[in-house]
Amino acid sequence: MNDVRTIVQKLCDGADITRDEIIFLLNNRDKDTADLLAEKASAVSKGIYGNKVYIRGLIEFTNYCKNDCYYCGIRYSNKNASRYRLSEEEITGCASCGYDLGFRTIVLQGGEDPFFTDEKIIRIVREIKREHPDVAVTLSIGEKSHESYKAFYDAGVDRYLLRHETADHSHYAKLHPSSLSAANRQRCLRDLKEIGYQTGAGFMVGSPYQTYENIADDLLFLRDLDPAMIGIGPFIPHKDTPFADRPQGSLELTLFLLSMIRLMIPEVLLPATTALGTIDPRGRELGILAGANVVMPNLSPVGVRKKYALYDNKICTGEEAAECMNCLAGRLRNIGYEIAVDRGDNIKYKKT
Ligand code: 5AD
Ligand code: FES
Repeated sequence: MNDVRTIVQKLCDGADITRDEIIFLLNNRDKDTADLLAEKASAVSKGIYGNKVYIRGLIEFTNYCKNDCYYCGIRYSNKNASRYRLSEEEITGCASCGYDLGFRTIVLQGGEDPFFTDEKIIRIVREIKREHPDVAVTLSIGEKSHESYKAFYDAGVDRYLLRHETADHSHYAKLHPSSLSAANRQRCLRDLKEIGYQTGAGFMVGSPYQTYENIADDLLFLRDLDPAMIGIGPFIPHKDTPFADRPQGSLELTLFLLSMIRLMIPEVLLPATTALGTIDPRGRELGILAGANVVMPNLSPVGVRKKYALYDNKICTGEEAAECMNCLAGRLRNIGYEIAVDRGDNIKYKKT
């Protein structure tokens, strides 16, 4: 029978729920259901990862981008964006600062910037690995060829983050210019998994034109892909984009989806994202309490942080990495969690 309690029970039992059931649950959810799911989801997370929250240090090394995604503040057409690139020395320097603060995962994230050729990326990765052999290096630099992904992997890159953005091809086309396609995005994700990366996918909650049917397809896509990490956060408008006047995604729905994802894919690494912390002062804590188990503080030099503005009002753009670490440690302690100082591999994808 299609009632909310039956569907919640299926989720809690780890049984596969159908597309129709997901849509029904989203349409009929209420506060009690959300509280129950959050309680079950955080218990599942604790059962696998304990009360530890994994940290990933994000180095936003270029905000140049050749793409023109309609939602993103660093899109090519945004002439108001003040563009920057960190030097190779600045990038490896940030990684070392992060190492000293306890980070054992470094994420190199940037726009799709042709200045950073494969050769340059590989040189940077090799240098970080040479200085800190126990660090997991993650790339988040967009759509590349199979050949490039393979070359990065062979150079020692462990993980790759590439949100699928939306599984539905026509929804994808409403968020991106025709030079980009859901098909190529999904090809990239399949390539990454096949090569052996611990792969991250994900989507924005409340992106323009998104329906509950789209979200159901996203969840089913993720269940099928079975990535090591899933990044979801609310859509937040950026004033210099075509979506400037669109409403932001909801805190409540983002938390609900975090809980659903934790129950559907129990061992997945699930960040409480910066975007979630941006729409609510306690967003990241609420994310952890809903089943998330990762936070991704910024290691970029404070001087460039405001410039990596995918959306408006991003938090932590004035704080040094060490300040964020203190702040986060306090916030997590308040809710009974602590920061883990290890690579924080997905238990299922951990290399032995
Ligand atoms: N609001 C929220 N998230 C955004 N992203 C890009 N622009 C926005 C925005 N305006 C997300 C995309 C991208 C990730 C790096 O950030 O999902 O994959
Ligand atoms: Fe950056 Fe709190 S985490 S200021």
